[in-house]
Amino acid sequence: MKVAIIGAGNVGTALAKSSTRGGHAVTMSSANPENAAKAALSVGAHAANSNAEAVQGADVVIIAVPYDKLGEVFRGLGSSVDDKVVIDATNHVNTQNPGEVLGTASNAEEIQKRHPKVRVVKAFNYAFASRMADPTVDGVRLDGFVASDDQDAKDKTLEFVESIGFRPIDAGPLVMARVLEGMALLNVTLQIRNNWPSQNGWKLVGPPA
Ligand SMILES: NC(=O)c1ccc[n+]([C@@H]2O[C@H](COP(=O)([O-])OP(=O)(O)OC[C@H]3O[C@@H](n4cnc5c(N)ncnc54)[C@H](OP(=O)(O)O)[C@@H]3O)[C@@H](O)[C@H]2O)c1
Repeated sequence: MKVAIIGAGNVGTALAKSSTRGGHAVTMSSANPENAAKAALSVGAHAANSNAEAVQGADVVIIAVPYDKLGEVFRGLGSSVDDKVVIDATNHVNTQNPGEVLGTASNAEEIQKRHPKVRVVKAFNYAFASRMADPTVDGVRLDGFVASDDQDAKDKTLEFVESIGFRPIDAGPLVMARVLEGMALLNVTLQIRNNWPSQNGWKLVGPPA
């Protein structure tokens, strides 16, 4: 697949690494194009000078920016992502006051509401960047949950999730992004409370192989 990744920080670089390893053609962009160029070089991806350039011809677009930059990113992209599969990997984490985040609409639903022509999918946000680069722990594939209201976009994303090393799991409609964002919050707060080394990930035990 042709994969565009917007954001070249921890998440963008980790997903670019596993994507190139999975045989995908990856183009990255960032606020400062020099950062995308540096990250791309480190993982065998291409770099674009702008977000709009990165998404040209992409089969899937991954959003890996801080949640408060989402408005800026989508304004800049305009109609260039209409009809495209856009995977939202963002979180709004408030470890001091988790209640501020829990119970509200998810980032993914907000994107879908504001940009109805975009085929929004939620995935990857529940994993640490370290695990996005390498989704296997002690020989076990971590789960890659995928939520969307667009079945075709979800199927394509499930295929992509598997290709980079996760066990793909259909998590249902886009409203389930609230749960996936809650799982991220739990993952982060558990890690902080227990001083774990940011390597924990999700595995649902029980479903048949
Ligand atoms: N870190 C994790 O383990 C983790 C796990 C799951 C989900 N998340 C979520 O994933 C998102 C990214 O996290 P991160 O840790 O990768 O953050 P990060 O390391 O701070 O990287 C953020 C990236 O976003 C880019 N960016 C900011 N504004 C942009 C714009 N207008 N256009 C294009 N790129 C822009 C930055 O560009 P520059 O490099 O040029 O500044 C940077 O490359 C956040 O929503 C976070 O909550 C993080």
